[in-house]
Amino acid sequence: MPTTLTSDVANLDYAGKPLSLPVITGSEGEVGIDISQLRAKTGAITFDPGFGNTGACRSAITFIDGEKGILRYRGYPIEELSEKSTFLEVAWLLIKGELPTGGQLAGFTDAVKHHTMVHQDFGRFFEGFPKDAHPMPVCAAAVGALATFYQDPETPPHVEDSVTRLIAKMPTIASYSYKHSIGQPFMYPKNSLGYASNFLHMMFATPCEEFEVNPVLAKAVDLLLILHADHEQNCSTSTVRVVGSSRANLFASIAAGISALWGSLHGGANQQVIEMLDQIEAEGGDVQTFVNRAKDKKDNSRLMGFGHRVYKNFDPRATILKKACTEVLGTLGIKSRQLEIAMKLEDIALKDDYFISHRLYPNVDFYSGIIYKALGIPVNMFTVMFTLGRLPGWIAQWLEMRSDPDTRIVRPRQIYTGATQRAYVPMSARP
Ligand code: CMC
Repeated sequence: MPTTLTSDVANLDYAGKPLSLPVITGSEGEVGIDISQLRAKTGAITFDPGFGNTGACRSAITFIDGEKGILRYRGYPIEELSEKSTFLEVAWLLIKGELPTGGQLAGFTDAVKHHTMVHQDFGRFFEGFPKDAHPMPVCAAAVGALATFYQDPETPPHVEDSVTRLIAKMPTIASYSYKHSIGQPFMYPKNSLGYASNFLHMMFATPCEEFEVNPVLAKAVDLLLILHADHEQNCSTSTVRVVGSSRANLFASIAAGISALWGSLHGGANQQVIEMLDQIEAEGGDVQTFVNRAKDKKDNSRLMGFGHRVYKNFDPRATILKKACTEVLGTLGIKSRQLEIAMKLEDIALKDDYFISHRLYPNVDFYSGIIYKALGIPVNMFTVMFTLGRLPGWIAQWLEMRSDPDTRIVRPRQIYTGATQRAYVPMSARP
């Protein structure tokens, strides 16, 4: 992957041992100091909790400039892709590196349709989960279990099949996890429908009743999937890479990514945003009081859907979603109290010194939950929707990691802070 080794060096002087560290730059000019020889030359390691300043890989997939609010997949701005593209087109772009030709997209769409069903035995697998199981761990377990159905050796054609199967079966698995949680029979995929429409059909149709998919809903779901499709080295993507670096297979690595995404500071935030808006409403709609609590270090509350490790300016996905939110709700004729509270919250927070000085802006999760709610997606499925969208990004990053000659098993170091060596105390001598 092209990075440029510059003539610059970073000079470090540690314990009287001067060291020149090479400097590399990426295609957008971002700079990395290569510390891979640091421990060998000085005995010291770097210390960077949360890896906020650690470049773990070279990647040619997604570019983010958090200061300017820029997000591009393979060089294409998210604003253009979200307006002109479709989710399957974006999935191809992320995975293959280029926009598909008409023939390639038609072939890929057909291949995905061919693989939408899951093995009949899978139904029994779902029966093992408690009825009130959250769909996210069910999805993680189900995707991990795909590895038991497809145990082919990891050759390029088999990996290609696994990629197609994952993209094709994820909506089926996601809808099964929901149907199980409400005690309804699973609905088979309907391959005459598009990707998003088919998912909505499997979610909302029953054997007794057809579900007429509203094209406005299907388009909104497609947009949401595009906006979530990749986001470079975030927590779940890094998890996929870490797990895959041990040569764990694609299904196992993606299952780990789903688990990482579930957390409330990551993909789980979209569910938490709606719960927060409902809480504010239930407590009388006093937005300012909630903002005060989010600022108070003694209070655990955070303004969910605000802040980002990388964006220190507007998250461009949130800007697109805010507009889409108003449009979708307007088209569907829905008046949303949650949207009203969200807009008030955003207004107050953006003028507040705390949020300004901490550079906290709405992120992708702030408005996505409101659209999901308007589309009739149940709250516990919000993070599953994020999973559907993020899947091609995880796959693309896993493939890139596997083909990168620099990939080594991920194995960070630590600064040990425990007890130094001491003698074993026999049970009889313990207090
Ligand atoms: N509300 C109030 N204060 C906040 C918030 C928030 N949402 N986010 C960050 N802060 C404060 C935090 O208390 C800390 O203050 P101080 O420096 O005075 O101690 C400072 O801002 C830095 O916070 P941090 O937790 O060190 O920042 P981080 O980069 O580790 O965390 C984050 C990023 C997204 C986890 C965090 O902003 C957050 O918890 N946001 C709410 C959850 C959320 O919306 N997550 C979705 C992220 S976007 C979708 C995705 O990619 O997953």
